[in-house]
Amino acid sequence: MTSDSSNQIQRAAALLRAGEVVAFPTETVYGLGADALNPAAVAKVFAAKDRPADHPLIVHLPLNADLSMWAREVPPVAEKLALAFWPGPLTLILPRQKRIPDIVTGGQDTVGLRVPDHPLARQLLAAFAGGIAAPSANRFGRISPTTAEHVRLELGDRVAMILDGGPCAVGIESTIVDVSRRIPRILRPGTITSRDIEDVAGVPVGLGPGAGDETEVPRVSGSLPAHYAPRTPLVLVAAAQMSGELHARLAQGLDLAVLGRQAQRVVDGRIHWQRALADPAGYAHDLYAHLRALDALGVDLIVVEALPEEAAWLAVRDRLSRAACGSGADEEP
Ligand code: TXA
Ligand code: MG
Repeated sequence: MTSDSSNQIQRAAALLRAGEVVAFPTETVYGLGADALNPAAVAKVFAAKDRPADHPLIVHLPLNADLSMWAREVPPVAEKLALAFWPGPLTLILPRQKRIPDIVTGGQDTVGLRVPDHPLARQLLAAFAGGIAAPSANRFGRISPTTAEHVRLELGDRVAMILDGGPCAVGIESTIVDVSRRIPRILRPGTITSRDIEDVAGVPVGLGPGAGDETEVPRVSGSLPAHYAPRTPLVLVAAAQMSGELHARLAQGLDLAVLGRQAQRVVDGRIHWQRALADPAGYAHDLYAHLRALDALGVDLIVVEALPEEAAWLAVRDRLSRAACGSGADEEP
């Protein structure tokens, strides 16, 4: 660590101790952090994001943290998953310890815990020596930030400090696994897949909120159908239909942006074509930066080539379908 970056870390840790909000990089996306045990500090995170109060935050911990300080109970399956995937893009939902303020957990009896793997996040957590409650550092319902510049543009005037750790390596949010119930459940897909989880857990895991949960308040804001959304309307189109769709839209007089894994097919001055990487990890890495850039073009419509149905693409397919659902709205969904 250079002395400059070590000064930055010390300053960020001091701001957190003083009850301020600090944006910091993780390997997934940038987070907007506050002292998880200070309700007034956590309230500033909700205010900065315009986030509804019933959406719980993930508590980020250093690798050597004593989990029993945060979770009442750590079932063996949670221990196995933590050992295998931490530090890394996995969040575990566990029965909470009572000392965690209600504002962090949305008043629920569980808490989301994660040990991130970005060097600056790890240094910050070590220097702060506590839990940092942090959602993604974007306005509620919008695209998560994967660079410090994204955070600056969206929240720059609302945070005490932004730690710049370069572009995030993973690019989409962590896999969330609820291990507070008898059968582990994936609440939000990520680059750690259900197969990865099952291999380590040694038991089948469920997908989605689970039977009987549909009427509860949404516990994962990413589970709202509209989320991660650009302001420009966005549609998903099968690769085979792409050319026909683009010609039809051009005939309607629209300016278009395209995000596709295939090379540009239809060439026209009113089409801005962004080629995406063809593999799931590369696609995830660039996804939010591409969506932000295409959203900023001021076109009428963003056309995204639909992705394969395979399990490896599940997490980016999930983010894209939510982006399509919430797109075009200036108000929050
Ligand atoms: O990769 C990530 O997870 C990033 C980085 C910053 O760590 N964080 C992130 O936070 O995506 P956020 O708040 O944007 O999304 C976390 C999701 C929320 O939708 C929240 O509802 C869910 O985790 N969550 C947190 N605590 C929960 C709990 N006790 N039960 C169910 N879901 C929970
Ligand atoms: Mg978020």
